[in-house]
Amino acid sequence: MAVSLYTVYSTVGVQRFLYGSRALAKIKWWEGTIVYQIYPRSFQDSDGDGVGDIAGITSRLDYIKELGVEAVWLSPIYESPMVDFGYDVADFTEIDTLFGTMDDFNELIEQAHKRDMKVLMDFIPNHTSDKHVWFELSRKAKRGANNPYKDYYIWHDGRKAKDGTLLPPNNWVGVFGGSMWTYDETRKQFYLHQFTKEQPDLNFRNPEVRREIEEVIAFWLKKGVDGFRVDAVRHIFETKELHRFEKPSGDKQFTPDQYEFYSHTLTRNLPEVHELISTWRDILNAYEYKMDKDLFMVVEVFEEEGTDEQMKYYASGAHMPFNFQLQKMNTTCDGSCVARLVYHWLNKMPEDSVANWVLGSHDVPRIADKMGVNMVNTMNMLLLLLPGVPFTYYGEEIGMQGVKVAFEDTQDPFGINMGQDRYEQFSRDPCRSPMQWSYAANAGFSNAPKTWLPVHSNYKENNVEVQQRDPQSHLNFYRRLAKLRRDIAFIRGDLDYAIVNHEVFSFIRFENGNIAYLIAANVGETEVVENFRKYEGKFPPGRGFVPQKGFVVMDTHAGNGSYVIENDFIQLSKVKLIPGQGLVLRFWPTF
Ligand code: NOJ
Ligand code: MG
Repeated sequence: MAVSLYTVYSTVGVQRFLYGSRALAKIKWWEGTIVYQIYPRSFQDSDGDGVGDIAGITSRLDYIKELGVEAVWLSPIYESPMVDFGYDVADFTEIDTLFGTMDDFNELIEQAHKRDMKVLMDFIPNHTSDKHVWFELSRKAKRGANNPYKDYYIWHDGRKAKDGTLLPPNNWVGVFGGSMWTYDETRKQFYLHQFTKEQPDLNFRNPEVRREIEEVIAFWLKKGVDGFRVDAVRHIFETKELHRFEKPSGDKQFTPDQYEFYSHTLTRNLPEVHELISTWRDILNAYEYKMDKDLFMVVEVFEEEGTDEQMKYYASGAHMPFNFQLQKMNTTCDGSCVARLVYHWLNKMPEDSVANWVLGSHDVPRIADKMGVNMVNTMNMLLLLLPGVPFTYYGEEIGMQGVKVAFEDTQDPFGINMGQDRYEQFSRDPCRSPMQWSYAANAGFSNAPKTWLPVHSNYKENNVEVQQRDPQSHLNFYRRLAKLRRDIAFIRGDLDYAIVNHEVFSFIRFENGNIAYLIAANVGETEVVENFRKYEGKFPPGRGFVPQKGFVVMDTHAGNGSYVIENDFIQLSKVKLIPGQGLVLRFWPTF
């Protein structure tokens, strides 16, 4: 059944998204860029140990630049025992030897800046590794002793069961499953960890901890980094009342050892975090002034408490919290469903703030696996042409697929913790497989006999080299999208929804009085013919409308069953879209 745009919006009203007064202001680099996420272990190995490294990244900067990307975000490269592959940091101001040296890092920054590219660091304030010297000192702190590290972490005596056995202070379960508390034999107390037991949570109620972390921020800013992706911010504070129990969430698909079994009102998104983030923003502001450049901070906040909770992070000082709405897409999500995901974020965002979109990351399955290879171009089209900052996870530009890893070979602690029967549902290894560069051994990623995770067996058909040669490849489609999005209509233009129905999600991007773009995607399973002239435009000034003909700028399915021809005009009253297809059409709105 086709639902008209106006039926879909009857309850919420037709929504528009305007950049408002900011359109007049200077656009900062981070508002116009694409951010490319690199998982350093898997991007490019330069020294043949089977693990990617910093020099490898530097050697690929030209490739990234040619994608049309101006900023990279590096998943952690700090010194780490690698229990959670770098998200367990043993020293916040050292580079892990696996990834290279500080000189390699300086060189990366220099080479990136030379190319007018920015480097964002992953920043992990919630926890350290249990091998961090702060934790080593904290666990040695004797009761009553005046040890400055005593309260760097969250410690508790625990409680006694009726039979006298010692139990953790409460029922809190960590993100990767199992108790949030581990007993430490040295200190003879429990310590809190929201993630693995090798990732003890720092105590941000301790001013000394706050000062240490502030110094870490300043350290990297002085080194010239252009901003941060801040990890797990919603987990930073827990209630002070450690005797309190968390209530079950009521979600029956989870078992009591799983995180989702509980609601997390005592351990997630506590109001204190916003004040903390505002102080980090102050540091950024100070360095913006000192170094005369714009800096950027995006914070990672998942959504269980609802988008309103996420939106608070815009106000607290982050330039943006990640928007994971598009990650909710799956093959059953129809046109109206996509529209809901999109306007859900745009409508809630505070005025004058900037949106962002994420399809994939090192934590979730790859988009090609989730939506099908047929949808890769269309997904990248939405990602790059919706208003705001797109985040592209390495390999998504070539439609990489996740790799299958046996339980014995599983590396991810989340997968391992869940055991052989459930690991495939939770392991994040599949989306972390090595970048597929070429036909060469190990897809050109490494010349080691064995890589840390297996290279996908399809690498000979799917790699950068093969896609570079094919004008219709995902890679070349991505590059063209990146180029197109530099048009003012995308960088600071308005958005209005066009036809939204069971099959189609479409929207228009336009900048006052300029050329407009119609982006139309068939996310359904049947071929459709749509009349876009029915759209009653809301182009300012006054009421514009869609003309007879539109110019086909891009077609996700060019040469692949499509009815249209790129660089040709088509009748906007009869636009045929096959399943999975996306079109970018250009026209001059008639006023
Ligand atoms: C979020 C990161 O994206 C994830 O990979 C990591 O395991 C946790 N935070 C803990 O740092
Ligand atoms: Mg290496």
